[in-house]
Amino acid sequence: MSENEFDVIVIGGGPGGYVCAIRCAQSGLATACIEGRGALGGTCLNVGCIPSKALLHASHLYHESRSNFRTMGIMGDPPSVDLARMMTYKGDTISQNTAGIEFLFKKNKVTYIKGWGRMSGDGQVLVGESSYRAKNVVIATGSEPSSLQAVPVDEKRIVTSTGALALEAIPERMAVIGAGVIGLELGSVYARLGSKVTVIEYLNEITPGLDKDICKAFRRALSKQGLKFVLGAEVTGVKDSGEYSTLTYALRKSSSEKELDAEVVLVATGRKPFVDGLGFTECGGKLNDHGQIVTDAKWRTSIEGVFAIGDVIAGPMLAHKAEDEGMAVADSIAGKAGHVNYDVIPGVIYTAPEVAYVGKTEDQLKDEGTAYRVGTFPFMGNARAKSMFMGEGFVKLLADAESDRILGCHVLGPTAGELIHEVCVAMEFGASAEDLALTCHAHPTCSEAVREAALACGLGAIHA
Ligand code: NAI
Repeated sequence: MSENEFDVIVIGGGPGGYVCAIRCAQSGLATACIEGRGALGGTCLNVGCIPSKALLHASHLYHESRSNFRTMGIMGDPPSVDLARMMTYKGDTISQNTAGIEFLFKKNKVTYIKGWGRMSGDGQVLVGESSYRAKNVVIATGSEPSSLQAVPVDEKRIVTSTGALALEAIPERMAVIGAGVIGLELGSVYARLGSKVTVIEYLNEITPGLDKDICKAFRRALSKQGLKFVLGAEVTGVKDSGEYSTLTYALRKSSSEKELDAEVVLVATGRKPFVDGLGFTECGGKLNDHGQIVTDAKWRTSIEGVFAIGDVIAGPMLAHKAEDEGMAVADSIAGKAGHVNYDVIPGVIYTAPEVAYVGKTEDQLKDEGTAYRVGTFPFMGNARAKSMFMGEGFVKLLADAESDRILGCHVLGPTAGELIHEVCVAMEFGASAEDLALTCHAHPTCSEAVREAALACGLGAIHA
């Protein structure tokens, strides 16, 4: 095999692509990964999940220092924010992680090709002047923000998540368009740092698609933290008023037009698949009406020997979904069984309190006519949560009325993003609510709330 020939070329070095490349190499396949951004880790590591978690962590501690420190007897002047330093901490967190992936590539003998890849047919991929070839090509090119035509982004004052993660000053007022994951996570960051944050959402509730009880309680929790919500409103335009921008939005119920001034406008209205310059359609590849690459159950595209995974195909745009597809497609290429259980993919919103969910919502079960039982347990009944001032929220477990098999779980509360995984494992093993309820959970932990919700599906919770 010449040095430009491989068993597998992965285009894109985000969570889907780099995991796929490492897994291919672990199976003994000669593997290259092409990435044009200059750093591995994709959107998630460079301008998404990881930097936003760094800012969420820092701003949460700042908020705690101002709200709960004195109550716990931690005295002294409340700290102030040096945003430049906070951004340096965020940058260090990113670079440590991107360097970590480069190390993993070297360790696993994955060839890292720097540049933008362009498919030219027959397994050939061009990067600048160089040409590479592989029997298998995996497209893992991810997604990009899908902004609104009426609100042109400059990444300074009208920003997507990318610009919001790199602001030079804390805005006095921030308008967030879209009450989805990005809008609420980054809106929370700036609200904690002192901005007056108003979120404008087209639909009548925040976080569309989530369990309705969670949505309501989540909105109440964020409102208490100072976020303002305008629901059922469509943003129709923006004008530059010098120091600030003026957004116009129409209330869908009354069609009345309103205005909102803000120093920074965050456009968080979703993301779209990224295939620009890839040469996929020019090689005969098929996209669907949403611009996603069409794949079959084994992630094969319409071009022989070309696979696609992650945000660029259908399904939730989540780093861990892409990672799982990356591993599964690598296993398929290596002749093993590659499998993703799309029924058990958790979702997490990293606000405080956190939101986490897996499986069916109550509405989905009603719509499909499944008889179910609900067990809920409030964190107010959990000693550990209360000791941390985190008694807000609850666990809601849904189980089949006849078999008791767990069908879904929805959590609003402390460490929800960690708690959800015991339910994921339980679901993978086809466990019943009683299985969870009879599993010993250490005391005092927040995880006891999950057990109590499982008990509530049967005879009843103990501490409710
Ligand atoms: P999203 O799809 O979650 O939410 C966008 C919201 O904008 C929707 O509620 C929609 O109704 C609203 N909207 C659209 N047009 C509007 C208009 N003209 N006026 C008012 N509201 C409007 O999209 P988001 O938050 O941008 O996230 C993009 C993707 O990134 C999602 O798929 C998300 O799952 C993923 N992501 C996941 C994270 C996590 O797992 N923690 C973190 C960040 C992003």
